[in-house]
Amino acid sequence: MSQTLFINATVASMQGASGYGLREQAALLVDGDKIAWVGDMNARPAPLDAEVVDCRRRLLTPGLIDCHTHLVYGGDRADEFERRLEGASYAEIAASGGGIVATVNATRAASEAQLFAEALPRVRALLAEGVTTLEIKSGYGLDSDSEIKMLRVAAKLADEFRLRIQKTFLGAHALPPEYAGRSDDYITLVCEEMLPRAQREGLVDAVDVFIESIAFDPLQGEKVLACAQDLGLPVKAHAEQLSDLGGAAMAARRGALSVDHLEYLSAAAVDELAASGTVAVLLPGAYYVLRETQLPPIAALRARQVPIALASDANPGSSPVHSLLLIMNLACTLFRLTPAEALRGVTLNAARALGLERDIGSLETGKQADIVMWDVTRPAMLSYRLGLNPCAAVMQAGQWRMPA
Ligand code: NIG
Ligand code: FE
Repeated sequence: MSQTLFINATVASMQGASGYGLREQAALLVDGDKIAWVGDMNARPAPLDAEVVDCRRRLLTPGLIDCHTHLVYGGDRADEFERRLEGASYAEIAASGGGIVATVNATRAASEAQLFAEALPRVRALLAEGVTTLEIKSGYGLDSDSEIKMLRVAAKLADEFRLRIQKTFLGAHALPPEYAGRSDDYITLVCEEMLPRAQREGLVDAVDVFIESIAFDPLQGEKVLACAQDLGLPVKAHAEQLSDLGGAAMAARRGALSVDHLEYLSAAAVDELAASGTVAVLLPGAYYVLRETQLPPIAALRARQVPIALASDANPGSSPVHSLLLIMNLACTLFRLTPAEALRGVTLNAARALGLERDIGSLETGKQADIVMWDVTRPAMLSYRLGLNPCAAVMQAGQWRMPA
């Protein structure tokens, strides 16, 4: 098994309950696909035939994790971007047959090969900034075959890039037009047919639902999550993005891995998250693009020590964003997260949001060797600059990744 010894490194291990877990003058040993040792340069092990990489003080972090994306879809929604600039709101566009449903039409019409080809540059953009784990949701198919088609594309992307991709079934993302006025019937279809089939085909790692005035109510959301749990699947929810319907608290009471968006989350719901250990996934790209002004309750989340993750939410409507470094900057600038919270949000806490924290998310002995070397010497540099990518090299499961 091959070994790599990093020396003279600045390591943001993300170990510990907060901060960067920063070590200067550090060394790190990779053995096979795992991290075998991290510590002080002077105490480093002396393996006989390891490849030695002199970092010359450069920063090592865990591979970045984008824990919430919708990056497999057909078409684009640039027209809605223009309509919003003329004054239409996201909810108004959705109510007039645009929004998610517009992307559903384009996604249904696209072949699997087309969806794959269109997703490639989106994945490449994320990988170029050090992403080593990615989540991709279905939810623009909204019928059994089209949801399966999306999830197959996600699986194919994982093979193509030899990347860890978590596939999340989001059949309850919006009401498909053919079910207008029959949302309960659609939820029954999701529970009895679509989800079990997707799971049988080995295409589901978790189940998500969109609880919102333009999507499903908390009771319908709970039904979907209950069905998922009956199948032994972990659950999460899009909640409190545009209004407070109590979806996040419901999901937290069910032990959800994460609840995502959360601009309208109440103080009482923060307590529920804290009690259940559910991760709060904040999506500053959607906040920014929709020109939202209601901030998520950051101070309350911090006070109750709810783990905060960040993600791109890459999608054609509310967040056409394909950069986790930009997301980190937006989280600091718009939400006033500290740069350490931002980095934690795209590493350890993002791993938790996917239920993968035992394996990835920090640079610790025994974890998978997903490591990014950055051309900077201080971790705040990652959140501070915009439009300059300092990613110098990426190791994924112990192997150097070639530029995509
Ligand atoms: O996370 N909020 C719901 N779903 C996506 C948006 C999907 C879309 O607008 O196409 C989101 O923002
Ligand atoms: Fe989303």
